[in-house]
Amino acid sequence: MESSPLYNFSKIIARSNKMLAIFKTIQKIANFKTSILITGESGTGKELIAKSIHDSSLRRDKPMIAVNCGGIPETLLESELFGHAKGAFTDAHKVKKGLFEEADEGTLFLDEMGELPLSLQVKLLRALQEDEIRPLGDSKTVQVDVRIITATAKNLGEMVNRGLFREDLYYRINVLTIEVPPLRERREDIPLLAEHFVQKYNNRLKLNTKEVSEDCLQRLINYNWPGNVRELENVIERSMVLSEHDVLTTEILPPELLRHTAASNEDLFFWDEFSIKTNSKKLEKQLITKALSETKGNKTKASGLLEISLPALLYKIKEYQVGQ
Ligand SMILES: Nc1ncnc2c1ncn2[C@@H]1O[C@H](COP(=O)(O)OP(=O)(O)OP(=O)(O)O)[C@@H](O)[C@H]1O
Ligand SMILES: [Mg+2]
Repeated sequence: MESSPLYNFSKIIARSNKMLAIFKTIQKIANFKTSILITGESGTGKELIAKSIHDSSLRRDKPMIAVNCGGIPETLLESELFGHAKGAFTDAHKVKKGLFEEADEGTLFLDEMGELPLSLQVKLLRALQEDEIRPLGDSKTVQVDVRIITATAKNLGEMVNRGLFREDLYYRINVLTIEVPPLRERREDIPLLAEHFVQKYNNRLKLNTKEVSEDCLQRLINYNWPGNVRELENVIERSMVLSEHDVLTTEILPPELLRHTAASNEDLFFWDEFSIKTNSKKLEKQLITKALSETKGNKTKASGLLEISLPALLYKIKEYQVGQ
């Protein structure tokens, strides 16, 4: 089965409405220098989205440089970002260009923004506002033209309230936010992603896996994926390596995943009877139960997820006797 190009936007595989809306946003905003903040749980594809914004923009022939703000010690991070003059500190034997300058005319992707120390937040804000940076130990400033994309799995707004993140910087980087939904809120992407990863690891590991069995796929759809797409990718790779057949079946899935998914096929598909009326009711009941658990029982939010009015939801809750 070939994936339709519509579902493959610069290497992001998706078919859910939530992700298609993100594709649209990317196309709209790509060519503006506007700062973008990408939020979402770990493994949802934030870096992939940053890359596709860069690749869709006129800056695509210039570099996109990714920096993990949580992975570099504070003292090093400053000279990494802004560079340093010769003799700026003991080990600074020669001039070093910072990543801002390396990314000139391109894109700087600042990952794990919530980890950026407060002292550097001030300096970053100045760089963003003035479009210029001052390398460590240098008396001159350097003009740069850099598009900034930031990402975080943390709630920066909350960090602002707790005094851990500067409010002025927050507003400066958060002109436009892309919220990447967790995989469990877009389960319709799972079959397509599974197929994509099977192809990827067939090529990479010279394997010959043909497909994922229907049962196995159903387990993948039912699972909650706390590690999101990255976890799905790992599960597929692991299963392909361990499997002795060219079809991936349920038995090969990690025990942890099997413990957390229902064994029956009842969850989403129930083709044992033909009545549209009966099946629709079952489906409605399951969707309502799921929406209520997703929103921890908040009926207003659940009605939003279900795209029905609150009174309609209350009526159905009573009719199906769910959540009571
Ligand atoms: N929609 C998708 N289509 C194809 N591959 C995806 C998709 N989403 C994520 N991936 C893959 O999953 C892995 C994790 O994605 P990525 O690094 O972009 O996530 P992230 O949100 O930046 O995670 P973290 O917060 O842990 O840094 C990567 O290997 C990426 O290629
Ligand atoms: Mg990332």
